[in-house]
Amino acid sequence: MNVTSTRWLLEANQTADALFVFVSTIYVFDGQNPPYDEHATPNPLSYYAYTKLQAEHLVRRSCSRTIIVRPMTLYGWHLPSQRTNCVTWLLRRLAQGEDVKIVNDIFNNHLWVGDASRALIAAIEKECCGLFHLGGPTTLSRYELSLKVADIFGFDRGRILPVPSDHFPSLAPRPRDTSCTTRKMVDMLGIIPVDPDQGIEGMRSTRPPWAEEHPRANGQELFATEHPKTAFGSKGR
Ligand SMILES: NC(=O)c1ccc[n+]([C@@H]2O[C@H](COP(=O)([O-])OP(=O)(O)OC[C@H]3O[C@@H](n4cnc5c(N)ncnc54)[C@H](OP(=O)(O)O)[C@@H]3O)[C@@H](O)[C@H]2O)c1
Repeated sequence: MNVTSTRWLLEANQTADALFVFVSTIYVFDGQNPPYDEHATPNPLSYYAYTKLQAEHLVRRSCSRTIIVRPMTLYGWHLPSQRTNCVTWLLRRLAQGEDVKIVNDIFNNHLWVGDASRALIAAIEKECCGLFHLGGPTTLSRYELSLKVADIFGFDRGRILPVPSDHFPSLAPRPRDTSCTTRKMVDMLGIIPVDPDQGIEGMRSTRPPWAEEHPRANGQELFATEHPKTAFGSKGR
């Protein structure tokens, strides 16, 4: 999917020679030497990241006008038809009254999806060709991020249980800390990313209409799981 579809798109672009934008991932790094800037040497641990890196090489070889971005793990409201992300997945679990185990030894500077969008739009509008790392300003473990989500949305943080990543032996290998620098994103694209407190508070204050108040919520904001079109009810992690 990542390599072949990119090759097809590059072939289709041969005559048009349009600006080619490729969304890669910060997981091309092994997580041993953060923070990573755009000159750091990739060493992917997972097959997913390996294929994204192969596609990056293809793009650079085949096209003269390219923008390659490597976003950090994204969070924000998704559309009802889309899958959850690390924040909306957690909200769904907490809203269902579940205790949740979250890893406390995987770190990164999570990026609010609005900043990722603004960075992409800026790069395209300014035609800033080259490679850009897209990340937030603050490095947190997934557990620390989850505590912020619970606090801001008014859930009991005691229901979030910290565990090491080897608690989930079936998961694909994840780099320990893929925090990236954001200097190029700020200086060249003019995007100053929001920190997790602002990003999650922004989510709370812009709760989309399909995240309805649940009848059993006892006044607490919960998220409807019955709605057939919500990603909460269909695709999970
Ligand atoms: N999410 C992140 O935190 C993150 C971070 C860094 C980079 N990225 C990159 O950003 C891009 C989008 O990620 P995402 O998280 O938004 O992924 P996603 O939610 O899984 O969405 C992927 C999209 O690709 C489509 N798709 C998947 N397999 C397909 C196939 N075989 N043929 C045609 N379409 C297919 C899906 O279609 P359906 O909707 O029909 O399923 C969906 O629209 C990816 O390139 C990913 O590597 C994401």
